[in-house]
Amino acid sequence: MRRNRFRSIVDSVSGDQSLIIVSNREPYAHKKVGSKVKVEKPAGGLTSAMDEALKSIGGTWVAWGSGSEDRNHVGEKDRVQVPPKKPLYTLKRVWLSPDEVNNYYHGYSNHVLWPLCHMALDRVYFRKKYWEDYKRANRSFARAILEETGESSTVWIHDYHLCLVPEMLRSGTEKLSIAHFWHIPWPNFSVLRICPQSREILEALLHNDLIGFQIPLFIHNFMECVHESIEDADIDYESETVSYRGHTTKLKAFPISVDFERFHDLASSEKSTNAISKLMKRHSLPERKIGIGVDRLEYTKGLIKRFQALDLFFERHPEYMGKFTFIQIAVPTRMKEPYISYKATVEGLVRKINKKYSQEGWNPIIYRDTKSEHEDLAVYYRMGDLAIISSIYDGMNLVAKEFIASQVDEKGVLILSEFAGAAEELEGAMLVNPYDIEDFSDSIKRALDMTAEEKSCRIRTLRRQVRERDIYRWISDFIKDIGILKSKQAVKAKYLLNHLSDIPKEDLFLFLDYDGTLTPIVDSPERAIIDEDTLMLIRKLQGIMPVAIVTGRSLNNIMDIIKIGNLVYAGNHGAEIWDGNKLVIDQQIADSREMLNIMIAQLKATLSPIQGLIIEDKGITASIHFRMVSPHDICRVHDVFWAIAERHKEMFTITSGKKVFEIRPHGMWNKGDAVKWIWGNIGENRLPLYIGDDLTDEDAFKAIRGKGIGVSVEKSEEADYYMKTQDEVKAFLNWVLGNP
Ligand code: UDP
Ligand code: G6P
Repeated sequence: MRRNRFRSIVDSVSGDQSLIIVSNREPYAHKKVGSKVKVEKPAGGLTSAMDEALKSIGGTWVAWGSGSEDRNHVGEKDRVQVPPKKPLYTLKRVWLSPDEVNNYYHGYSNHVLWPLCHMALDRVYFRKKYWEDYKRANRSFARAILEETGESSTVWIHDYHLCLVPEMLRSGTEKLSIAHFWHIPWPNFSVLRICPQSREILEALLHNDLIGFQIPLFIHNFMECVHESIEDADIDYESETVSYRGHTTKLKAFPISVDFERFHDLASSEKSTNAISKLMKRHSLPERKIGIGVDRLEYTKGLIKRFQALDLFFERHPEYMGKFTFIQIAVPTRMKEPYISYKATVEGLVRKINKKYSQEGWNPIIYRDTKSEHEDLAVYYRMGDLAIISSIYDGMNLVAKEFIASQVDEKGVLILSEFAGAAEELEGAMLVNPYDIEDFSDSIKRALDMTAEEKSCRIRTLRRQVRERDIYRWISDFIKDIGILKSKQAVKAKYLLNHLSDIPKEDLFLFLDYDGTLTPIVDSPERAIIDEDTLMLIRKLQGIMPVAIVTGRSLNNIMDIIKIGNLVYAGNHGAEIWDGNKLVIDQQIADSREMLNIMIAQLKATLSPIQGLIIEDKGITASIHFRMVSPHDICRVHDVFWAIAERHKEMFTITSGKKVFEIRPHGMWNKGDAVKWIWGNIGENRLPLYIGDDLTDEDAFKAIRGKGIGVSVEKSEEADYYMKTQDEVKAFLNWVLGNP
């Protein structure tokens, strides 16, 4: 997503509501270096990602003032404009006492929650004073936030340092929109229960309106933890919401990402090209292959396992001595125990390996322990014939995505731990289990020996994914969701069966969704069959008022199921409409059908030899399912699919879901468009009443808001009324007919 497009999306969603970002770590710290004051940007995924975002949209960022000179560089209310050279947003600093730094930050955050969530259980170390200062520090943050908020502000909290803040803010003011993004893994209950305060933490987090996680697994774990810990919390597993003490929290996965364009531009710049030549010369690299590692010196990044695998690799493949160099950038972090010992162990291992294999003028590992700026990292990433991410557990891992974005020559292989969130999200990387040292070292060999063709196919596939789902898409998705929740809270749906007297049944135009409304939800669409009683009710209703069935199924399919001739039907979300007498198809859609035939034929010609691939032709749209395709063929599926999609981009929008590509004509109607058309053309004098149950029905509720009546089955609050179960649809239809 381009930066300017992103800005307009965010502006349209957030309007004049102020956005306040909150995290423990600040994006810019003033520090004394020698006799000078320098501004430092910390290493770490949270600040890397959010700084890019806030630079584009502006706002306020509340964070701990951790730099030695920070207090001398704030103005009124502890605010400072950043980035210092070209201010684009406000940083408000929160001050912590030395005890709070030790007990809240190094203690509860880094000794309890961090290892717990990363399942490094023997590193969890708990002291009562940690928890006391954790509460105190969270209170300081809450106070600072409330100094910055107005009536309709949105507060977006980040990470495990600030779990108690949502609850503290709620008791300050009910009106705020509060959301939390959890950057690290969320563990399952058998792990979380180790934490003595697990229940307090869950309860406090449930004051958020929205909690974002990196991948769906962490949402499942969170729901399991709530289920096991809080008996009176009401969990809706389908809509992924938790209601507790009158407040509902939506849970959703938002895999965090990087500024693809920026890394691409940095890596392709002339400056980088020159820097690469220099580095190559300095380390005699042109004739050598290069591996890259970039990490905080952090035990969860699996650096020891990475070097053990490299050791085994050189032991088994001495022919690579002198021909392959691994460059590791390891930035010291949180310099207390156990990090101090970890650093010593890692560095000892690097020395040992270098001693064991080095030859004149060549060391297997070049080790740098200073932080590099993104400009320099892009150079290393571009040079890499391979990069290794070996996390023993990781929320996402942005380095993986930065490497992909910087691979402008499309020659590098990403070796990625299957325990990093990125592995769950990205396709095309070479996955490894970092605990399985032998397989890990074999993977290094496989990556180095891989054909140029396979390498470029894999990295192209990865680049497409990161380009499509970049940091701008991430933040606009998150902000959009906060906005949607806000508007939902404004509309309070009423229980329909208690308010039947509100409904003028003689004047209605009845719009009915099919799956989940006229039938219960079942596993596969073929098994969703409407019962005879409901069909009978529809037949009778259609005698006294206009009735339309609105569905995502194809028109043929729904007419075949219902078989009532003169009803109105909208198939494919309204792309094809039967108005009771004749077929009404948008001409553009008819044209695109022809194009879709061509596209499907091309896809079949090239992809059908691939085992497990399913091409589902839905008439006006199509889906390409590759869940059952072998990992070896996935890259080919992506490459071929996108090459064909590129040829048809004037006509079709592609969305990629989990192991599926959806192909839809541009500007295709949604159910809201369908309802507006049918109502305007067939029964404008009537009052539209729409009953539906899923997200696609929300477009219809929105289309008739204020002009008609929206009724949701069970879930949506976009509607004016709701029903508790799908069974109640029949009861309502009976009531409209005047049946007892
Ligand atoms: N980073 C950096 N300079 C360095 C090393 C790392 O700026 O010398 C940045 C890196 O570019 C990335 C972040 O630190 O944006 C690390 O994020 P990641 O998600 O990989 O891991 P985390 O440190 O957040 O656990
Ligand atoms: C991870 C965490 C961040 C943290 C960063 C650096 O990315 O999710 O919250 O800021 O590591 O760690 P530090 O302790 O230096 O802030």
